[in-house]
Amino acid sequence: MGAINAVTDLSVEDGIALITINYPPVNALSHAVREGIVNSMKQAGADAAVKAVVLICEGRTFMAGADITEFGKPPKSPWLLEVIESLENSSKPVIAAIHGTALGGGLEVALGCHYRVAVPSAKCGLPEVHLCLLPGAGGTQRLPRIVGPEKALEMITSGAHVDARTCQAMGLLDELVPEGQLRASAIEFAKKVVAENRPLKKVRDMNDKVEAARGKPEIFSEFRKANARKFRGFLAPEYIIRSIEAAVNLPFDEGMQIERKLFQELMDGEQSAAQRYVFFAERQASKIPDLPDNLPALPIAKVGIVGAGTMGGGIAMNFANIGIPVTIVETRQEALERGLAVIRKNYETTAKRGKLKTEDVEKRMSLLTGTLELEKLADCDLIIEAVFENMAVKKEVFAKLDKIAKQGAILASNTSYLDINEIASVTQRPEWVLGLHFFSPANVMRLLEVVRGAKTSAQVIATAMQLAKKIGKVAVLVGVCYGFVGNRMLAARQEQATAMLMEGAMPWDIDKVLYDFGMPMGPFAMADLAGLDIGWNKETSSSSTVREVLCEMDRRGQKTGAGFYDYDEQRTARPSPVTEKIIKDFMSKAGATPRQLSEQEILERCIYPMINEGAKILEEKIALRPSDIDIVWINGYGWPVYRGGPMFYADSVGLANVVAKLKEYGPKLGAGFSISPLLERLAAEGKRFQDLK
Ligand SMILES: NC(=O)c1ccc[n+]([C@@H]2O[C@H](COP(=O)([O-])OP(=O)(O)OC[C@H]3O[C@@H](n4cnc5c(N)ncnc54)[C@H](O)[C@@H]3O)[C@@H](O)[C@H]2O)c1
Repeated sequence: MGAINAVTDLSVEDGIALITINYPPVNALSHAVREGIVNSMKQAGADAAVKAVVLICEGRTFMAGADITEFGKPPKSPWLLEVIESLENSSKPVIAAIHGTALGGGLEVALGCHYRVAVPSAKCGLPEVHLCLLPGAGGTQRLPRIVGPEKALEMITSGAHVDARTCQAMGLLDELVPEGQLRASAIEFAKKVVAENRPLKKVRDMNDKVEAARGKPEIFSEFRKANARKFRGFLAPEYIIRSIEAAVNLPFDEGMQIERKLFQELMDGEQSAAQRYVFFAERQASKIPDLPDNLPALPIAKVGIVGAGTMGGGIAMNFANIGIPVTIVETRQEALERGLAVIRKNYETTAKRGKLKTEDVEKRMSLLTGTLELEKLADCDLIIEAVFENMAVKKEVFAKLDKIAKQGAILASNTSYLDINEIASVTQRPEWVLGLHFFSPANVMRLLEVVRGAKTSAQVIATAMQLAKKIGKVAVLVGVCYGFVGNRMLAARQEQATAMLMEGAMPWDIDKVLYDFGMPMGPFAMADLAGLDIGWNKETSSSSTVREVLCEMDRRGQKTGAGFYDYDEQRTARPSPVTEKIIKDFMSKAGATPRQLSEQEILERCIYPMINEGAKILEEKIALRPSDIDIVWINGYGWPVYRGGPMFYADSVGLANVVAKLKEYGPKLGAGFSISPLLERLAAEGKRFQDLK
């Protein structure tokens, strides 16, 4: 007894053996942890004084999953399955004592135990789906046996963390014990099991719930149908469903084999590789090589926002959500009131959906103060400007802010395209100025481009990166250029999409290809949603583009019921004969003959120029690394996470193939198009973006 290895301790109290795992930060199921459990079980099994075993963890959580650093390395025995077998096959009852989160492999271990007790704050989940995997150590076979296939489908395909009370209600936990008294309570529970001579409840042998579902394939077909939109393009949910079907229809050991086979297919597949890459890429994005380590963030206790329009309102919500008071400045009372009313409506909608308490709506609203006086921002620690996208207007605002804001206040612009250095130049404190580029809707979209100006100080950058995390955003540090990372690449795609209209592809043809690729929508549907009149001026409009003509006809997008598409009352889009005619008229005026563009050409011409632009962004050091670009596209534009982002996608297509295609399309890509030297060099050397270090 005593230390079994560096991370495992075994002790005996009153006939109850306690296996204690201590492997910070999350007791991941590393090789040492697995070995520790197996060896402890051997000793506890051999010790006649031991009547039951409790498996418990030190630190902030029960085992919260596999050790992701071991992914892709050759597996080392004992495997997780052996660990679980050593628990389940024990002749003495084993009780899992859960606090924090029992996730993935951690929950599978708990499912291998005969009983599970937890504190009320604990959560259980099988989040493998987020890495395009399925729980591969019996999770898909045991969970349906204990909670029933319906609940197992929901829990495993969503990857949700389910709270302890819900887990208890569905049978996953046997007992909730008082907070802070897990160890003593688990021992008590174990003694009770021994005293009452309770059976060894092996989940693998619990067949009632799966047998009840046998011969009811509709459980699965209906689940597939109900979630078709959510699962679109993703492989893992379908594999999970099949694996749970196997749990229902086959004996346990055969089900386990199906689970293993499906797990392995996912593990070896492109999608999981992409999603695991994204998992690490997201963590990497917060690391800024030239910032001194642990540079303390400046305290942000009060935020000011200039402009209560689409963006200003959404941005304000982010801070109110975490309890930071916000002062919002507008130029006119009605704009201010409209802005605040939109925020309230958003909160109320969330409350109606049951995702926010009614009293929290008021609490958050009470943190927002509207004003028409910029001077009220004098004591703000951070001021974010979200006025019209116009350099003169922004300069005027920043010149004023420079006089009003206290020393040490951070001044940020939410501009989409404008030069942060030029904006900073009108202040006496350019080192305190940066871009904070939120995405619309700003209270929902996870991406934040943190734009570093030529003079922005390290501490201001560090503060912005850490603040982003606090408000639940994924921050990516970018440099100053037109459109920064995301919109600059979007422009490259837009240029090609517009050019293809003049060759014979209709907006819905192009949109369909990108939708099928996995994007939430294509460029024309997106334009209709945002409004075709962004940047359009009625006075100077001269019918020179399809878009201008549409605006002149008051087809300004979804909000006017028509744009590139026609919309019905439910805002369902239909291809529009009006738009088609406008396009054809433009073509005949230009003497162009329409041709049939293949789906492949549409896809390549939309995406390869984006990749090329991404390479230029890297050359110019606008982005720190290719994976940062991928994080921008996944979190800001809905790039399908299972394709890993445009740069990862380029690597999987092969950079030489991308370059060859760009050359083949040649003049079609436009007079201004040029291939990035970096892309050409990597392609010639047979390298990938991921090889750039
Ligand atoms: N809409 C988007 O999708 C989006 C996305 C990212 C960034 N942005 C950027 O955010 C900024 C704001 O865009 P928006 O879509 O919210 O515009 P908007 O027109 O909805 O809102 C701008 C608001 O600023 C107010 N305003 C103008 N001048 C002001 C001043 N001097 N003082 C106080 N308030 C003033 C206006 O009254 C208006 O309510 C722009 O720079 C835009 O490029 C927009």
